[in-house]
Amino acid sequence: MNSRRDFLRQISGAALAAGVAPAMLAWALPLQAQNVEFQGEDGMILRSFRFVDLETPVEYFNTWLTPVPHFFVRNHMHEPSGLNADDWRLTISGEVERPLTLSLGELSKLETHTVVNTLECAGNGRSLHRPQTPGIQWGKGAVSTARFSGPRLRDLLQHAGLKPNGKHVMFRGLDEVPGKVPPFIRSIPIEKAQDSDTLIATHMNGAALTKHHGFPARALVPGWVGAASCKWLTEIKVLESEFVGNFMSPGYRFPNQPVKPGDAVKPEDTHVLTSLNVKSVISAPADGATSKAGNLAVYGTAWAGEADIVNVDISTDGGLSWNPAKLGHERAHYAWRLWRYEWKAKSGDYVVLSRATDSKGRVQPAAPEWNPGGYFYNAVDQVKVHVA
Ligand code: MTE
Repeated sequence: MNSRRDFLRQISGAALAAGVAPAMLAWALPLQAQNVEFQGEDGMILRSFRFVDLETPVEYFNTWLTPVPHFFVRNHMHEPSGLNADDWRLTISGEVERPLTLSLGELSKLETHTVVNTLECAGNGRSLHRPQTPGIQWGKGAVSTARFSGPRLRDLLQHAGLKPNGKHVMFRGLDEVPGKVPPFIRSIPIEKAQDSDTLIATHMNGAALTKHHGFPARALVPGWVGAASCKWLTEIKVLESEFVGNFMSPGYRFPNQPVKPGDAVKPEDTHVLTSLNVKSVISAPADGATSKAGNLAVYGTAWAGEADIVNVDISTDGGLSWNPAKLGHERAHYAWRLWRYEWKAKSGDYVVLSRATDSKGRVQPAAPEWNPGGYFYNAVDQVKVHVA
């Protein structure tokens, strides 16, 4: 207990040094203070005692679509308790000609579109940044992939009659906001809101959204940080400028220039996180595994937000030489690609690495770009393997 208290004191200090407002910390008490992993339902890793924050173990990254019980969950506050489908309404207001209020029945009459999307929390991998930064201490599994469907946001905006001065679209969720925590409200620029793949999703892998994932409707902003995809959506408002609020600033921002730990970063020297980075993760063998010499499959997954994965390279000699992995056949623009490498392993101790390259020419770096929020960890992945 003592070390948990010490840890909290330590992260408060680190946050102040990094220029993060202490208010950001009040509800983000990480569980992994002593690097203890608690197991939740379905083998998921529990990352917070306060709200539902569940991480997918990397060994589950062996199917292209993540089964819903294995899909990570990120909640900043309590899930809405009294939500029922009959009473739920979605309003569309702000810079529109005809403000609308829709029931779930009315929403479901609109044309449906389907997008397979890899959703990743901006803080995925935060626990791997050195020095550590405050916030939920995610390992590698705050990322999952599902087939989402529902009406296009642009169709709703068209029904409401978008005015020319509408430049940003704000989403409000129905989270139960405890104490002084600011409500979960964020906005996206109108160009992304009008993209034909940006949805008001009501379904995930062919079934109605579950409560953890935003029942009855959520925004789905494909290729972007998970925070853009507001759950338990109840209000859409078209604004003339970006929404101003805690989850737009200081939350979910990245320094414009590389910074050193301890540097104070001014808000005007940061930008809002949008599209995801290029990244791969090794699903098997597990870190620290012992395997028999012979044919050993190294496999995992790779994704790149709004870009496509073009190759994943594997090194079994700590990065001296690289060989291409075979990419899986299942693919979609915003979805991860499974990959596999058949390794003829001889006995010894190895560090196995995976490195993804995307269609924008981005390559996973050897070291992550440290930042005060602990966002966008995307260094080359690695596992230690003992071949007997
Ligand atoms: N929407 C609401 N209303 N409240 C939240 O706390 N968390 C966001 C986003 N939408 C959140 C939210 C974050 S940070 C992420 S990463 C994704 O939801 C996670 O979606 P999931 O829980 O369905 O995996």
